[in-house]
Parts: sequence; C-alpha cells; structure tokens
Amino acid sequence: MSFATGLICRECASTYPTEARYSCEYCFGPLEVSYDLEAARAVVTRESIEAGPRSIWRYGALLPDPGEEPVDLGAGWTPLRRAHRLGEELGLAELWLKDDTRNPTGSFKDRVVSVALSSARRLGFSTAACASTGNLATSVAAHAAAIGWPSVTIIPSDLEKSKIAMTAIFGGTVLGVEGNYDDVNRLCVELVAEHEDWAFANVNLRPYYAEGSKTLAYEIIEQLGWRTPDQVVVPLASGSQFTKIAKGFKEFLELGLVSGEAPVLFGAQATGCSPIATAFAEGAEVVTPQRPHTIARSLAIGNPADGPYVLDELRARGGDCGSVSDEEILECIGLLARTEGIFAETAGGVTIASLRQMVRRGTIDPEKSTVAIISGHGLKTLDVIVDSATVTATIPPTLAAAEAALALHSLVAAS
Ligand SMILES: Cc1ncc(COP(=O)(O)O)c(C=O)c1O
Ligand SMILES: [Zn+2]
Repeated sequence: MSFATGLICRECASTYPTEARYSCEYCFGPLEVSYDLEAARAVVTRESIEAGPRSIWRYGALLPDPGEEPVDLGAGWTPLRRAHRLGEELGLAELWLKDDTRNPTGSFKDRVVSVALSSARRLGFSTAACASTGNLATSVAAHAAAIGWPSVTIIPSDLEKSKIAMTAIFGGTVLGVEGNYDDVNRLCVELVAEHEDWAFANVNLRPYYAEGSKTLAYEIIEQLGWRTPDQVVVPLASGSQFTKIAKGFKEFLELGLVSGEAPVLFGAQATGCSPIATAFAEGAEVVTPQRPHTIARSLAIGNPADGPYVLDELRARGGDCGSVSDEEILECIGLLARTEGIFAETAGGVTIASLRQMVRRGTIDPEKSTVAIISGHGLKTLDVIVDSATVTATIPPTLAAAEAALALHSLVAAS
C-alpha cells in the first residue's frame, strides 16, 4: 500500500490528485509527489521494510502507487561497500561506495524508470518515451520491452556507441537528434503536447520518475545498519537525483526510522558542463545555462531543471560542488577500478574526482563518514578508455617471450 496522497507544487504548494501532470496550473512550478507520513509512521517500520523484496519495492509504501504490480526488472538493493583502499588513497577515515552499476541495465536510472512506468501503467498509458543523455533511454527501452510496450527514446545522435547499442537492442524506436540534450529536452516538451498518450518518463511523468531516486537514501540508511552517513557525494545532471536523495533522508528521519541528522550532500560535475558548480562557486542566485563539452555525456545537461533546488540544499546545509576536468575523470575511473575493483562509467569518474577535490580543499571532512554514489557501469562508456586500457604486452606464444615480458614488467620479481 502506498501512502502517496497526490501531487504538490514545489513553488506555491498547490495540490493535485495523482494524475499525469507535471507543472502547476497557477505558477508553472514543478510538481512532486506528497505523502501522508503521519499515517505511514504507524505502519512503516524497520521490520516491515526488512521483510520486503530485495529491490526498490521494499519501500513501496513511500513510493507512488504502482497499481496491481510494479514494472520491475529488479532495480535497487545494490551493494553499499566499505572502500578501505580508496579511502586510504583519498585520506578518508570511513568511505562507502553505493554501487549502482549493479542495476538491471547498469545505472541508477532503473530506479526511476521502474517507478515512472509503474505509475504510467496505472494511469492508463501504453507507450513509454523519454528525453535522455543515454542511461535513461536504455532503461526505458528495457523496462518497456519487458512489459511488451512500444518505446520511443530520444537522445543526442552523437552519444557513445555502446549506449546507443544498449538501447537499440531492446527493439524500441531510438531517435538520434542532431543537437545536445537541451535540444532533445525542448523537442520532447513539444512532443508531449502532440502525443498526450505517451508516457515520457522524465517529462509528463517526471513527478513519479523522480521519486525513484529516494530509494538510494533509504538503502544507504538501511545498509549502514539504520544510521545516516555524515556526507554524501552525488553526480549532477538535471539535479533530480540529488534533490530526491535529500528528500529520502529527510523522510526516514521524519518517520522515526532513524535518528540523528540528515547528511550534508555534495554535488559533482564535469567542468565541461558545470552550470550548478559555477553558480554555487559564484554565489549566484540563478543557474546560467552552459553549452556542454565533456566526455561525461551522461551528465551533460547545460540547463538543469532542478539546479535551483540543488543550490538551495547545498547552501542551506554547508555543502559544496566539485568541478573536474576530463583528465581527472579518466584518472579517477582508473583509481576506482584499481583500488576497489569497481568499473564505473564517466559519471563515476566525476564523482570520485569531485570527492578528491573537495577533500583537498577541506569542504569534505576526512574524519566523517562519507558515501559516494557510483551511478553507472563502465561498460557503458568503454569508448573513452579502449585506447588507454590495453594489454600490457603482446608476445609470441613461447615461454621465453612470456618470461621476458614479465621480467620487463617486474611481475616475476614480485611473485
Ligand atoms: C550515470 C548517471 N549518473 C547521474 C545522473 C544524474 O541524474 P540527474 O539528472 O537526476 O541529476 C545521470 C543522468 O542521466 C546518469 O546517467
Ligand atoms: Zn505552483
């Protein structure tokens, strides 16, 4: 049973029923799902949650109503791993990695899509669509395929080949737009008006879609043994994941499922697309859109819808926002892999490089517990490393050649 009560405007607090509406009639502000937490308090306990499935749906009471059954490929309940070796490298006393590479299509987007398409089915839609920087398209196409729905996913045409392939394989329609994500998003807002019977996960279903990200906060608390961490680093594109992780921590505190304080959240962006980091650093009131140019294509949103809300949260809680170069992103994909055995896509490199940057400038406290969100799998962005991550040596099939190559690379001496 869901304790969702309706939709509420994030600007003027006007309320609406749980329907396919995403902006306020009065002020055009964005809507989000509201809940009767008072009623939930009596029913949602640690025990009731622990008895649930090993997926985001263990938190179904605090998500929008999925109807008869959720659209579910098994998103969520991904490992939270203590990262001793990377922590030591970065000088952090207690570092944890939320390994969301381990979702059904390899990114955290499976959380939001499972929620969005469940709501879409309950509301009577039968076609799935989205505007995407890649990962969302893959997840929408996969979840739609699993329930036999057609899908229309719209992406910049020059995305990583691996991401396009991972989307196209599910058999839906994939439209490559000659332009960047912000062009794609504008086009989709126009398409929504023409195709009201299409469920665009992150446009007309956005209030429902966004809720899926709260489960990251819920899982972190539960997996830490029902405690909150002190600091969490989150990669930013539209900023939706960040704002909903903040919402998730607050809800568990309000429900009395955990005591203490909500963690301080930190953002992570690539310098080549850093509208939020720039506004934060400059103390600006508004986020000025940028034209993205970075290898972190999944985060390349130049005009982030949730930017102002991210800034509010960063400023209210003493957070900070990293801004890292493409070189640092590549270096930190390698650092994470070498120290922890986790292969992340470029967004993960942005998170780790930003974490390192904010530790160095003293805004992240190295003595406090810290969680970094690793939101997508490295196989998705193989393109950026195939030229540098290669064989150590190529040799003829002889013992002598093998010994010579190993000696050269000091492996024999080491063994
Ligand atoms: C791997 C990955 N991490 C993080 C994000 C950021 O998501 P949001 O738009 O919610 O800020 C994205 C968005 O596409 C993504 O693909
Ligand atoms: Zn409003």
